[in-house]
Amino acid sequence: MKNIILIGFMGVGKGSVAREVVKNSDYIAIDTDDLIESMENKTIKKVFVEDGEAHFRALEKKVANWLQKSVKNTLISTGGGFYKQKNIKDIGIVVLLDSPFDKIIKRIKAHPNAAKKLKKRPLLADLQKAEELYNERLPEYKALADIVIDVTNKSALECTKELLKKVKKYV
Ligand code: S3P
Repeated sequence: MKNIILIGFMGVGKGSVAREVVKNSDYIAIDTDDLIESMENKTIKKVFVEDGEAHFRALEKKVANWLQKSVKNTLISTGGGFYKQKNIKDIGIVVLLDSPFDKIIKRIKAHPNAAKKLKKRPLLADLQKAEELYNERLPEYKALADIVIDVTNKSALECTKELLKKVKKYV
């Protein structure tokens, strides 16, 4: 089994798909934001507020180097900006979860914990700026991806089945 790296915009459902992959395969999942939170012993939001985005990106780089060197046979879900790490393609098969910006926001707002989900993501504080960021990133996400899964109006289980089928070609 090769590593699978889930990339995609904030709120697209990387965490939900990761959990479903674990339920339906032999993969164990780790998440780059979770690793950073435990390394720093603070939330991502606090890292942004207290230490700044540049420090957060440096931590992502440290995580990327560790993943490449030390992690095998794992499903890795990532923060929405992690794809900028230069070695991402050396870590594993890159899978993009894709959906239009308005559908992503609708998905977050429909969640019972919507307010919390928005609050914990500093880059979603201003939705107009977030949409600009989305438009800037979308072509870069697509250029990097080995596999693209359109997650719009699909359950995490449906996305997972599609992912596991498409990944077979690479492992
Ligand atoms: C970010 C996405 C977040 C988190 C941080 C920055 C980004 O992760 O890493 O707030 O640059 O898109 P999620 O994609 O899990 O929300």
